[in-house]
Amino acid sequence: MQELIWSVQPDLIIETGIAHGGSLIFSASMLELNAACGGPPDAEVLGVDIDIRAHNRAAIAAHPMFKRITMIEGSSIAPDIIAQIKAKAAGQQRVLVCLDSNHTHDHVLAELEAYAPLTSVGSYCVVFDTVIEDMPAGSFPDRPWDQGNNPKTAVWEYLKTHPEFEIDKSIPHKLLITVAPDGFLKRVK
Ligand SMILES: C[S@@+](CC[C@H](N)C(=O)[O-])C[C@H]1O[C@@H](n2cnc3c(N)ncnc32)[C@H](O)[C@@H]1O
Repeated sequence: MQELIWSVQPDLIIETGIAHGGSLIFSASMLELNAACGGPPDAEVLGVDIDIRAHNRAAIAAHPMFKRITMIEGSSIAPDIIAQIKAKAAGQQRVLVCLDSNHTHDHVLAELEAYAPLTSVGSYCVVFDTVIEDMPAGSFPDRPWDQGNNPKTAVWEYLKTHPEFEIDKSIPHKLLITVAPDGFLKRVK
């Protein structure tokens, strides 16, 4: 992700799934480094989560990188939330999208339909936890996702009708081990 954020130099990173805010703080920190090196000075991260717990919100708000972070509470596939995020992305030149919320096929497919089009050409829509498809069946007995129903199956279905995205295999080839095999979608047109 560091390499992508450096090479894309996004003005806006959209992230679904906040939890404790680790990826929000990481992305904001990378944007701060980009700015320090002459990149977009006012780049921001926009995160959405269906449940932003008070102690997580407080910890994120207390972080020095919070100045680059906006959080929205609600389901990432709710029409009013999608509208808010689209409004924020409007007019931004370079947008990078990260999907890391509910990992079921239907949810990720709906997120792809809503947010992948916001990805600017040359940037990425990164779909996390596609690795669920490669793990033994029944690995997540307390979760609704499993082999055949996960972010990777959603990516495969989405790509059937969206030739503007290609899976960038060069990234997992460098990483060797990743939670996002087939999850680095590059917008090529
Ligand atoms: C894997 S965690 C996110 C981790 C975070 N991206 C990080 O790496 O620091 C998944 C989060 O998705 C949220 N989530 C689940 N369903 C959601 C939905 N429908 N809309 C938005 N967020 C959702 C959960 O509340 C949880 O906090």
